[in-house]
Amino acid sequence: MRVIICKNKEEIADKAYKIFKQQLNEKPNSVLGLATGSSPIGLYEKLIEGYENNEVDFSEVVTFNLDEYVGIAKEHPESYYSFMHKNLFDKVNIKESNIHMPSGDSEVDCIKYEEMLSNNLIDLQVLGIGRNGHIGFNEPGTSFESETHIVDLKASTIEDNARFFDNNIELVPKKAISMGIASIMKSKKIVLIAMGENKADAIAELIKGDVSEKCPATILQKHQDVTIIIDEKAAEKC
Ligand code: F6R
Repeated sequence: MRVIICKNKEEIADKAYKIFKQQLNEKPNSVLGLATGSSPIGLYEKLIEGYENNEVDFSEVVTFNLDEYVGIAKEHPESYYSFMHKNLFDKVNIKESNIHMPSGDSEVDCIKYEEMLSNNLIDLQVLGIGRNGHIGFNEPGTSFESETHIVDLKASTIEDNARFFDNNIELVPKKAISMGIASIMKSKKIVLIAMGENKADAIAELIKGDVSEKCPATILQKHQDVTIIIDEKAAEKC
C-alpha cells in the first residue's frame, strides 16, 4: 500500500490523474471502476481537462460504477447515474453503451451486475471512504466475501448524504445497490482518495488498524496494488 499525503485538493487531483492518465495511455480500452461523492470530483475535472487537451481518450473505455441508490429514478438529479453524467460522462467521448451502473433492487439485478463485472475485470478502481470506513456502500459488518448486493444504509451515511437532499433526512434513500467487497478486491489497481479531518479516523484504521469487517476499508491492506491519496487533515491520525 502506497500512501501519498498532499497539501490540498488540487495536488490530490493531480496525483490521481497521473495514475489514470498512465492507465488510459497504456491501455486505451481500460475498464475503470468509478465512485461518486465529493472525493473523486477533482480527478474527474482533471480527466475532462485531459480529454479536452487530447491527453486522454475515452472512446474505448468501459466503466463500472460502485453503487447506486435504490428507490429513486436514474433521471433524479441526485441519482449516481445523474452525478456521473454531470461530472464526467457528458463531458468526455465515452460511449453510453460502455457505461455500467448497478441498478434495481432484486437478487437477479445483483447477479447480473456481478456477471458483467466478472466478464470485464476492472483495471483501475477509484474509491472514496466513508467516515465509518465504508467503501462503496459496504457498511461496517459487511462480509469480505460479499459481491454486488442490496444494502440498508447506516444512519451516519444517511446523515452525510442529507446535504444532497435539501438537508432533509426523509428525502435520502435508505437503500442502495453496491458492488461488494470481494467485487472491489478483484480490481487490478485501486486508488483511494480522502480529504478532511472527518476522514482521519477511517484513514488511520485503514492504514494501521487490524483487518476487520468492522472497518471494511481495512481489507485494502491485503490488496497488491493500492495507492491512498489524502490530504494532511485526513492523515492527521496516522
Ligand atoms: C460513492 C461511494 C462511497 C463514497 C464515500 C465517501 O460511490 O462508493 O463509498 O466514496 O461515502 O464519500 P465522499 O467522497 O462524498 O466523502
